[in-house]
Amino acid sequence: MPKKEYGWANGNIPLIGDHSLAKHRILRQYVQKYVEILTRDPRIDRFQLALVDGFAGGGIYRRSGQKDPHLGSPAILIEAIAAAEVAVNATRQKQIQIRTSYYFVDKSKANIDALEKTLTDHVYPRFPGVTPQILTGRFEENLAQIVADIKKKGKSPRAIFLLDQCCRARCLMAFRAPLAMAIAPCASSATTTMAIA
Ligand SMILES: C[S@@+](CC[C@H](N)C(=O)[O-])C[C@H]1O[C@@H](n2cnc3c(N)ncnc32)[C@H](O)[C@@H]1O
Repeated sequence: MPKKEYGWANGNIPLIGDHSLAKHRILRQYVQKYVEILTRDPRIDRFQLALVDGFAGGGIYRRSGQKDPHLGSPAILIEAIAAAEVAVNATRQKQIQIRTSYYFVDKSKANIDALEKTLTDHVYPRFPGVTPQILTGRFEENLAQIVADIKKKGKSPRAIFLLDQCCRARCLMAFRAPLAMAIAPCASSATTTMAIA
């Protein structure tokens, strides 16, 4: 487990560790499979999903021995949804529209500034319709507003919460109970929480 948190202040682009690369692979596969499986019913033509990255980071990394940047969890969520939509529609006669609301939160203004630049430079040009809500502040302080916003969008909205907090297990312990209580009334079984410590 790494000792230091990734940081994007002063233009820094952190070097990504192998554990984070593995996490990103799992995240991408999970989101893609989730959508593919939940849209299997050929009668539905619309699928609505909220993706909340509560500890989003600056969105960009350096990778040892490689020139191209490696994009972080916010870009991976957007790319995974786009890939799932293509994969699902390739197998259907009736095309389906995946309507996704993205919420990206980080407590650090420097990290959010880096994330906005990353999305502008590397993501929005490829996915012009994507307009995430980007929030600077503690996830726990933004959670109620995010849950209210998700609930406004439908009766039993589906949501995935990615809680990739930091390297210290005590953060997870501090969040577990309050988070469970806050998220539980949101969407019952339609909510998935991926907590990573
Ligand atoms: C491990 S990094 C996130 C990496 C990112 N999820 C990825 O995979 O590319 C953890 C981030 O959580 C942020 N953070 C720590 N505590 C926070 C809190 N209470 N609320 C929101 N963000 C927080 C840090 O500023 C840091 O950017």
